This record gives sequence, C-alpha cells and structure tokens, in this order.
Amino acid sequence: PDLFRPERANSKGFDLRDRPEAATLDVAREAFRTHVWTAAPLLACDAPAGETTEMRSPSDPSDLVGHVTWASAETVTAAVEAAQPWDADAATRKTVLNRAADLYESHFGEIFALLHREAGKTPLDAVAELREAVDFLRYYGARAEGAPPRGTFACISPWNFPLAIFTGQIAAALAAGNAVLAKPAEQTPLIAHRAVELLHEAGVTRDALQLLPGAGDVGAALTSTPGVDGVAFTGSTETARLIHRAMADHLDPGAPLIAETGGLNAMIVDSTALPEQAVQAIVESAFQSAGQRCSALRCLYVQEDIAEDFLKMLQGAMDALVIGAPWDFDCDLGPVIDAEAKSGIMAHVAQAQSDGRVLRTYPTPDHGHYVAPTLIRVGGIADLQREIFGPVLHVATFKARDIDRVIDAINDTGYGLTFGLQTRIDDRVQHVTERIHAGNLYVNRNQIGAIVGSQPFGGEGLSGTGPKAGGPLYVDRFRRHDAPTTST
Ligand code: NAD
Ligand code: ALA
Repeated sequence: PDLFRPERANSKGFDLRDRPEAATLDVAREAFRTHVWTAAPLLACDAPAGETTEMRSPSDPSDLVGHVTWASAETVTAAVEAAQPWDADAATRKTVLNRAADLYESHFGEIFALLHREAGKTPLDAVAELREAVDFLRYYGARAEGAPPRGTFACISPWNFPLAIFTGQIAAALAAGNAVLAKPAEQTPLIAHRAVELLHEAGVTRDALQLLPGAGDVGAALTSTPGVDGVAFTGSTETARLIHRAMADHLDPGAPLIAETGGLNAMIVDSTALPEQAVQAIVESAFQSAGQRCSALRCLYVQEDIAEDFLKMLQGAMDALVIGAPWDFDCDLGPVIDAEAKSGIMAHVAQAQSDGRVLRTYPTPDHGHYVAPTLIRVGGIADLQREIFGPVLHVATFKARDIDRVIDAINDTGYGLTFGLQTRIDDRVQHVTERIHAGNLYVNRNQIGAIVGSQPFGGEGLSGTGPKAGGPLYVDRFRRHDAPTTST
C-alpha cells in the first residue's frame, strides 16, 4: 500500500528533448558559467576551521569553481557538542522538507551549473540528480511521523551523487527529527554547501543541521566522537569497514551504521535477447555518468552463440558516444572526478592493454580528467579484482548450459548491488532472478537510475547493510524503537 501513497509523486525534472525546456535550462544556468562559489563549515557554534583551498573543474583545470574552507578536528568536536535534535513536530518537518524541495527546484540553473562544473555531470545526469534529490526530500518528508529520533546522526556521502545522496541521507535523518552533522565528499563541498544553505533557508534550524566540509580525516573524527548516535554512510566498501571499526571502538554499541557501498555488477544477455534493446541498456548502464555509479554495469556475460555479432553491434554503439565538456547538451560522457581516479582506472586499462584484452577504446580530450569508454575481454567476473569506478566494461562469454556457473561466479564476488538480465524466456527470468544475490534486479532494461518510491535502492553482502534508500523502511532506521510513537 505504501507504493500508492499520494506523496509518491516524483519530480518532473526537465525533458532535454523538448527545445523550450532545454532553452529555459540553458538560460538559467548561463548566469553561473563563470561564478566562483565559496564553502565553509556551517555551524551552530563558533569554532576554528582549517585551511582554505581552490576547487577546480574535473573537465577543465583552468575553470576555478570555488574556494572551500575545511573543517578541522576542533570544528568536529564543537559541532558534535552544539548539535540538537530538530525541535519541530512531524507536520512542520514535512512542511520544511517540502519547502526545501521547492527551493532546490527553483534554483535549478545554479544547481545544474554546480553539477556540471564541480562534479563533471552531463545535462542528462544533472536532470536525474536534481530530480532524485527533490524526490528524497518529499518522500522522506512524507514519513516524518513515527517513533522519536535517535539524537545526532553523522551523514557521510560520496562525490558521485553530490546532491542526491548528500540530500537523501540528511532528509531521512531530519524527517525522523535527528540533528545532522553532514560530511560531504572532499571533491564536492560547494554543491553540499549550497544545498545546506537552501535547507536552512527552508527552515531547518542551524543546530539541527551543520555542515563539515572535509576529507576522510573529518569523517573519521565524526565516527569516533562520543555524542554521535548513528552514522549514515554511502561510499566504498573499504571505508565502510573503517567506519565500522571506529564506531565499535568509540560510539555507543547501539549506534546504527547504515552503509550503502560498492558493487561488482553483472548483466547476462542470452541468445533470445532483443539485440538493440540490450545494446542500449548496456551502453547506458556501463557508460552513463562515465561509469561512476555504484549501480553501473561492470561485467557483461553474452551467450557464446550470439557473441560475435552482438559485440560488433555494441562497439558500434560505443563509437557513437560523445566524450566532452559536461556543459554541452550533446555530451554523453564527461570526465571522471579527479586525477587520482583517472590514474587508478588507467592503470587497470594499461594492464589489460599489455595483456591484449582491450577490444575497444578511444582518444579523449587532452585537458581534464577524461577516460574513454573502454571494452575489455575477461574470462569471467572473478577476473575483476576490484570495483573499477569509471567507464570500463568487461565482457565474458558463456555457453547456455553453464548459466548456473555464471550465476555462482557473480554471487561469489560477495557483492550484491544491481544485476541485469536480457532474455525473452520467462522461465529463465524466474530461474536467474531466484538465484542471483543482488538488491536491485532489472530485466530487459538498463540497470541504473532507480526511482525514489517505486524502486527502493540498495544492496546486500559487501554492497550494503540496508534498509534500501528511497523505500518505505529507510526513515525508520533513524528512529529509536524502544520509545513509544509520538507525533513530535
Ligand atoms: P569513499 O569511500 O572514498 O568516500 C566516501 C565518503 O567517506 C567521503 O565523504 C570520504 O571523505 C569519507 N571517508 C573517507 N575515509 C573515511 C574514514 N576513514 N572515515 C569516515 N569517512 C571517511 O567513496 P567515494 O570514492 O567518495 O565514492 C565512490 C564509492 O561509493 C564507490 O565504491 C561506489 O560504489 C560507492 N557508492 C555506493 C552507493 C550505494 O548506494 N550503494 C552510491 C554511490 C556510491
Ligand atoms: N541510485 C543510483 C542508481 O540507481 C545509484 O543508479
């Protein structure tokens, strides 16, 4: 029944194929093409901050996007002490979160410019990102009523959804009435700062929402400061392990960790699949957002009987991808987030090149942190030693009789985030989806872009603790269940 609640209406976003809508967007963001933003800790107290540094665009290092003053260890201690659960009843919390959603939507020009310039997001990605952030605010706001808050939550987020995931964690914690200490990724503090300003403008009090821009050391300080009653984390599986340890050593044993982590996501294409549909789904799943989605397709299994023609068709579709400036409407692939990300991905591609396993790759712009869409042949998913967080797709073939071995190999990675299947055999859909361990299963479509409310998103195993984001159970994890339900 939850799925049919009227509040589920999702944000409309922008249709970039509609010329007037695209033109409206273009005009609104133009005012921010060369704007230089500033970010700093937003606190409910006075506290010393750290250094100030420049933020430059991943697509063009000559583009100065802003200046950020980082939180220091002292800032963290002071912010934890100053945090106060949100002193507003459930109806007010819902109203304020909805007002924040409206403010996000009305600032679309500035938000798009920030997403392009600070995070390297293409127009298509930016539309989806703003919509998702707005959806989280409204969806969690509609679930404000319930058991009391736990107290103070640290919300630690990644750069790859610098607005949507950053906002989603905060909105859920605030909807339940907690105080939030928000620690955005060090690559994207400017977007986070602007988002918190809009949340304050909407009516969230300063002591209920503080911003601590910083790197991993600020996150580590937060997760080991007594006074923090729970942690919402989205990022790599390795960081989640560190946080788990820090919490065990320093925080109350009852403090929950909600961790949404990495994936080694696969898709199986059998010989009955519709080739055009499958190719489109693969290209979107592997290369949209330059492959920088936890949900992205990393390992494709194609049935041997169709592999030769199918892989030719896939490479034809890759040839048509436009790599370039994320501001441009025709850009399919922007940069990866920074030089470190690029060098890690390129080391993997270079190894595959020296082994003669690269089937397709392309030249890239010579400035900025670009990585070309690349197709690499592998024996199977076990050959992927780690999550390669970029536009690199691995492909293996399988014989029809071995499909259960393919499923076992995918499950044996220990991850379980997204999985895709392309087939026209109903029994196979049943067979494969019953056996595969993954949080989100997609049949005969792409495997990215879960929609808040209708496709709750999250993994199992090494991919996350649950509950799923954008689903009916998420906000409850931010509440105390040993106390009676009240309307405050
Ligand atoms: P990351 O783990 O490097 O960083 C995530 C956040 O953790 C950042 O804010 C970072 O500063 C902070 N951090 C780093 N070290 C810390 C520590 N010791 N203690 C506390 N906080 C610390 O991840 P990333 O590179 O920003 O993001 C990419 C990763 O996120 C990928 O693995 C991707 O799969 C995953 N991800 C998962 C989901 C999901 O929903 N499952 C969504 C998006 C991204
Ligand atoms: N929720 C994002 C997606 O589904 C990560 O692609």
